[in-house]
Amino acid sequence: MTAPEDLQSWNRLAALAAQERDDRKVDPASMRLTTDGLLMDFSRQRVDQDIIDALLALARETGVEAAIENLFEGALVNVSERRAALHTAMRAPHEERPEAVADLIEAEQARMLDVARRVREGDWRGATGKPFSTVVHIGIGGSRLGPELVVNALGGDFDIRFLSNVDGNAAILAFADLDPNETLIVVASKSFGTLETLTNARFARSWLLERTGDANAVAQHFVAVTANVEAARDFGIPADRCLPIWDWIGGRYSLWSAVGLPIAIALGETGFCELLDGAHDMDRHFRTAPPAQNLPLMLALLGIWNNNFLDGSTHAMLVYDSRLAILPQFLQQLEMESSGKSVTNDGSPSRIDTAPVIWGGEETDGQHAFHQLLHQGTRAFSADFIAVADPGHDLADQHRWLLANCLGQGEALLAGAPSPADAPHQAVAGNHPSTTLLLDRLDDRRLGMLLALYEHKVFCQSVIWGINPFDQWGVELGKQLARRVYDALGEDSEADDMDAATASLVDTLKKPRP
Ligand code: F6P
Repeated sequence: MTAPEDLQSWNRLAALAAQERDDRKVDPASMRLTTDGLLMDFSRQRVDQDIIDALLALARETGVEAAIENLFEGALVNVSERRAALHTAMRAPHEERPEAVADLIEAEQARMLDVARRVREGDWRGATGKPFSTVVHIGIGGSRLGPELVVNALGGDFDIRFLSNVDGNAAILAFADLDPNETLIVVASKSFGTLETLTNARFARSWLLERTGDANAVAQHFVAVTANVEAARDFGIPADRCLPIWDWIGGRYSLWSAVGLPIAIALGETGFCELLDGAHDMDRHFRTAPPAQNLPLMLALLGIWNNNFLDGSTHAMLVYDSRLAILPQFLQQLEMESSGKSVTNDGSPSRIDTAPVIWGGEETDGQHAFHQLLHQGTRAFSADFIAVADPGHDLADQHRWLLANCLGQGEALLAGAPSPADAPHQAVAGNHPSTTLLLDRLDDRRLGMLLALYEHKVFCQSVIWGINPFDQWGVELGKQLARRVYDALGEDSEADDMDAATASLVDTLKKPRP
């Protein structure tokens, strides 16, 4: 397969980027796309029709359309692990799912929703017969971020807590004020081997057993979501308390599966299904809309333009809605774990840049922290502004200020401002491209659409860069080294076989503290 940088369209884009194109003649109305309730305005990107045409040619030359079909049909798009990536099947109607998984999904989705219903209705009770009032969801990365994002964004009517970090302070805090008799603990781990999750699960098990004094309580108070039922059973969770996740669902694409159990408990079946329906609406759009009207593809192409041709090595997610406060973190995992790759699908090193660093925050707090650098720093970057038109509350004036800041920042980033003659330090260079994503309101369906939009953006970019977005081999080395350091931190162990910096820090930590 031809490397992207050898394609005609890539070279055309490089030539366009080399030209001074300050006189962008764009009609803002032609730089916006919509689907139900979601507007994507890219009139603040540094593109014109020539650039857009060349980007669309790049999508054609790299075979994005065929790749999209492969994804939906269950081809082995995760080439290094020889797996399909069928998160879209989780949210498709039965008849649109690949046949090999359709019945399985149907049955297991029903089982998961039944668990959620029984917990919500107090039908499934703890060991002392009390209904559950709180759910503690233990998981990390994709086994936490999606569910927490959705529960935070949409609320619901159940007390759900999330515990991910191995830091003991977090574990103590998560359980501090809970009644063990009314607490259900969900352990979400595809591998059931992740250090943080298992450490926290063991803490939760001791917490429960010490307080209830009932050895049988684990079976009654724990649910596992995992592909490794054996390991869950060894931990003490019986097979009939395990909900499945399959190897064709990646961790960061898993909120649509049983990993979304806390979402279904918080929102109920209707809310969970609406979320899936919204994502499916985006899937259908992605699969059928012509390239120039295709939101995920256009979002991906604009990202390629900024990343590979305008030298933007970072991309900010600026979220103007506190309900979506952890969206930047979610997108960080989605994009950086998927596309932070330097080897292409044929095993050769990539000669072009792949994913930028994704970062961001909840606004307007960011404006009083890092926007100074955005306005007057020296580095190129791009940004997505994400806002919601209807705030879901009646503090109209506050919301007007929030939106005014969102739109004003986008304008300032692009237009900048000249400095007065005697005050060069006041110059704001501008020329920083951004896209504005505006939801008409934040509900289950629209949130599903928004998350699927970004999933597909990531997929399109991976096709163009020729990399696999569904594996994450890079995180393994750090896990192995942590295990070695953990052993060395033990009382009788030696800090050998590690580099000088690590060994010296281990020594420091082992010295008695005053
Ligand atoms: O950090 C690597 C990773 O495997 C992520 O991809 C995943 O979301 C997370 O760890 C949790 O994995 P698991 O669900 O197997 O505990």
